Amino acid sequence: MQIKRTSQSRRGFSSPEDSIIAACRELNASGLNQGTSGNISLRQGAGLLITPTSLPYDAMEPADIVAIGVDGQASGERRPSSEWRFHYDILRNRPDVNAVVHAHPVHATALAMHGRPIPAVHYMVAIAGGDEIRCAPYARFGTQELSNAALKALDGRMACLLAHHGIIALGRTLSQAMWMAQEIEALARMYLVSLQLGEPPRLSPEEIEGVRAAMKGYAQV
Ligand code: 13P
Repeated sequence: MQIKRTSQSRRGFSSPEDSIIAACRELNASGLNQGTSGNISLRQGAGLLITPTSLPYDAMEPADIVAIGVDGQASGERRPSSEWRFHYDILRNRPDVNAVVHAHPVHATALAMHGRPIPAVHYMVAIAGGDEIRCAPYARFGTQELSNAALKALDGRMACLLAHHGIIALGRTLSQAMWMAQEIEALARMYLVSLQLGEPPRLSPEEIEGVRAAMKGYAQV
C-alpha cells in the first residue's frame, strides 16, 4: 500500500504559510543561512506564496507571507522578497518543482565567490541531476538578469550556485528543497576541505548517470 503524505502534514503544520516560516527558521538554526539573507516560495494554485522582504524569521507570522498571482502581482500586507522574480520564473518554467529555497550558506557561497561549480567529486553531486552543480554568473540581486542566469544554471537540475551570492535549491516538496539545500552545502564543505590536498579526481559522467539511476525515488518526503 502506498502512503501519500505532504511535508506539511508529516510535520503537523496547519497551513503552507506555517510550513514556510518553520523552514525559514530551520535554515538559520541549521547554519544554512543567517539573518534575512534567504527566501522561500511554495507553489499555490497558478501562483505562489513567498516570504516577505527583510523581515526577521523569528518575527514572521502567517499573515506576513505574500501571495503572487499568475500575472506576477503581489497581494498581502508585506512586500514580497526582493528575489520574487527568480522564484516566480522557476515555478512557471519548472512544472516538476513546487518549492524554491534560496540561502547564503558559507561553504557553497565561498565556492560561488570564485564562480566555481561543484564538480563530480562525490557521488551525491548526482542528486542535483547531473555531473556538476553549476554556478550561475553574477547579476545583481532582485534583477531579471539574475533570474535568467539562475534558470539557465538550473536547466535539468535541482540546485545551482549563484556567483558572489549563494545557492538555489528546488524540490517537489518543501522538505525536499530543504534537504537539497543541506546536501549542496555539505558537498561544498567537503569539496573545500578536499582542495587542501589539491584538486580531487572526478567521477566519470557514466558513473554519475549510474548513481542517478540507482537513486531514482530516493527522496521519500
Ligand atoms: P529578501 O529579504 O528580500 O528576501 O532578500 C534577501 C536575499 O537573499 C537577497 O538575495
